[in-house]
Amino acid sequence: MATDFTEETAAAAVVDSFADTPDPRLRELLSALVVHLHAFVRETGLTIAEWQRAIDFLTATGHKCDEERQEFILLSDVLGISMLVETISDRSFGTTTASTVLGPFHVVKSPRRQLGDSIDLVGAGPPCVVGGRVLSADGTPLPGAELDVWQANDQGYYDVQQPGVQPRGNGRALFTADENGAFWFRTIVPSHYPIPTDGPVGALLAATRRHPYRPAHIHFIVTAPGHRTLTTHIFVAGSPYLESDAVFAVKKSLVVDFTPVADPEQAARYGLAPPFRLASFDIVLQPEA
Ligand code: BEZ
Ligand code: FE
Repeated sequence: MATDFTEETAAAAVVDSFADTPDPRLRELLSALVVHLHAFVRETGLTIAEWQRAIDFLTATGHKCDEERQEFILLSDVLGISMLVETISDRSFGTTTASTVLGPFHVVKSPRRQLGDSIDLVGAGPPCVVGGRVLSADGTPLPGAELDVWQANDQGYYDVQQPGVQPRGNGRALFTADENGAFWFRTIVPSHYPIPTDGPVGALLAATRRHPYRPAHIHFIVTAPGHRTLTTHIFVAGSPYLESDAVFAVKKSLVVDFTPVADPEQAARYGLAPPFRLASFDIVLQPEA
């Protein structure tokens, strides 16, 4: 005889339906998802109209995605899920550079550039030099480490947000660290900026009276043989919104001084006219287990 579907038995019935899932992790994840989703629906007394609204929202989120725009990542970001997953994945690695969110503006692939090149192809904004070393957790330099770098311009826009305004590849580069694990490049100090608000995620922020801003930062993905890939940013010390990043991605250890330098000799060493800003920091990678 068929068992009635009730509020009390619904979750168990669905979890039971996954009993033959060959992949145990898939079974665990789907079962937990159903248990928590059912609990949410019961606790809130979700109405049919509200569930339809949620489905419409997720449908609109999907429709907003294309080659250059990932609205689902943005949704995950503003709900704090991206940072939670990052933080869990970082659990045992306190001695190495902290990770933070990838964000939706990473492109495959950035243009290859030489150490010392400028990633700023436009020339607007306060000039700066960013440099440091890539090290293993025990302090050993990692020669040949690869750094994928991307940043917004001084107005807070990535190249992919302004086709025809910014040249493609502006604010982006792939670098290879030198024989001492050192890297350095020229750029401009990026601006804080709003995450895209012209889609469903923007509507969610507006409905909840949340601001969309992120503090100024430069993104990095750093790889070296035998080490865990690190996805992170450095944040510009003193930037607005360090305390209220719309995507919860700030970690204190990632806030870096962009120190003003007026010394003409130091500027000449970097091929710049003074004044400029200098951001120095090391990136420490975790050896693979
Ligand atoms: C970014 O930093 O590029 C970013 C991260 C999360 C959401 C939107 C933008
Ligand atoms: Fe960003």
